[in-house]
Amino acid sequence: MKEWTREERYRVLKSPEEIRPLHERISRSVYRQTYHVQPVTGLSSDPNGFALHNGVWHLCYQWCPWGAVHGLKYWYHVTSPDLLHWSNAGIGLAPDRDYDNKGTHSGSAISVGDNLYFFYTGNHRDENWVRTPWTCAAVLTAEGKLEKLPEPLFGPRDDHSEHQRDPKVVWNEDKKKFYIFIGAQTLDKRGCVLIYESEQPLEGWRFAGELKVPGYERFGGMWECPYIVRIGGRDLLIFSPQYTTLPGRGASTNHNVYFIGEMDYDSLTFTPDGPYRFLDFGFDFYAAQGAANVDDPEKAVLISWIGLPDNHYPTEEEDWEGSMTLPRELRIRDGRLLQTPVSGIETLRERELAASEPLPAACELEITVPEGDFDLNLFTRPGGSGGLRLHYDAETLRCTVDRTGLDRRFNQKVGEVLDIPMEAPLRELRVFIDSCSAELFLNGGEATFTTHVYPTEAEHGYTLSEGAKLRGWELAKTVTDEFVI
Ligand code: FRU
Repeated sequence: MKEWTREERYRVLKSPEEIRPLHERISRSVYRQTYHVQPVTGLSSDPNGFALHNGVWHLCYQWCPWGAVHGLKYWYHVTSPDLLHWSNAGIGLAPDRDYDNKGTHSGSAISVGDNLYFFYTGNHRDENWVRTPWTCAAVLTAEGKLEKLPEPLFGPRDDHSEHQRDPKVVWNEDKKKFYIFIGAQTLDKRGCVLIYESEQPLEGWRFAGELKVPGYERFGGMWECPYIVRIGGRDLLIFSPQYTTLPGRGASTNHNVYFIGEMDYDSLTFTPDGPYRFLDFGFDFYAAQGAANVDDPEKAVLISWIGLPDNHYPTEEEDWEGSMTLPRELRIRDGRLLQTPVSGIETLRERELAASEPLPAACELEITVPEGDFDLNLFTRPGGSGGLRLHYDAETLRCTVDRTGLDRRFNQKVGEVLDIPMEAPLRELRVFIDSCSAELFLNGGEATFTTHVYPTEAEHGYTLSEGAKLRGWELAKTVTDEFVI
């Protein structure tokens, strides 16, 4: 693994020419995605600024240009007409001001009339590496570029630690106010959310208070990337608690959880209907961000980083890593969250796979599961050995996913085996495979499982239990891997 000095990680990009050779080199990798958004060079992590505005979907991702390393973060901007086809639009935000000199960190966007506003964290560090996180804003210009406001909106509070970032902005129609939710940490290192309010998006911001979530006063050491949305007459609160292990999640200290409940903007209290739940049960899923619900109060659209902080992936050797998930539609049915792949995804089906044909690099599988125990092994070697193994135990309603059988193993210390506790017998499964990822949607989206996977040339078979029915399709390429900076 390459060791990076701080200087190398925080190097400022002066000209696109500095990274053109890297782009040319990595675009030849067999692991480049074909229908998932991925870094143009270097590393992509959190999704940022995700919104629909004037018929165009805007998405940015945390981007470090130089390689598979977390360092100086930019926002890299991509756009889509339909959440399926994505084009590179160039740098969204660059860390080019004193207040964001060490990174334009995560944030969100909101479309208001003719304007699209972006809110992000300006990560300032002084010569002693002491951090000051600023909450900053930018607007979309007529040319489709992000233009920063000259000054930040507000600075950090000194009654909390330096971890105050990832502004999520929402409009509340009852209050006629905008609210910003900021992921934060108390001075005694508890994770929390700080709330600010204003009648105007770009001025007048006041601290309203700390979000109360009864029962969750001590839950993780920092709540990154909060997201709140109202769907189906309920409030959904999502965040990524870190610096803690959680039952059922192995040794990982980074998680992505949600509550369904009720948000009271008078008392700044989110009252959950029940205990927290994992947003996804996979190995590599973090910092999920949704867009506001669009023309449909019953659904929101969510996207996430396939990857985790502090983890390492095999494409590090090739100087790039990370990917976005497929966008997902979120709905609440009978008090439960359902997550389904973005609608229209079926239009990417190019060709139906023949029985026992090897898995193409980009494909979808639709599997009907018979009653009883069930096994599915993906990316097996010739003869059916190895692979990414899913076993469903009908008695305990538990799926276990095991990636120890793959040739390219990674993040072994974090764990290579995870369970998906099901609420109902497993009936069906949709699997979306791209060059370096697999996303599983179980029982119509009652549970999901996202993982990176780096099959070798020999690992493209699959096996499944007798009696299961499988249909598969090769999927079209929908992301352009163009060098636009
Ligand atoms: C989450 C996170 C955010 C931060 C960003 C920096 O992965 O740590 O809290 O804004 O990444 O890249």
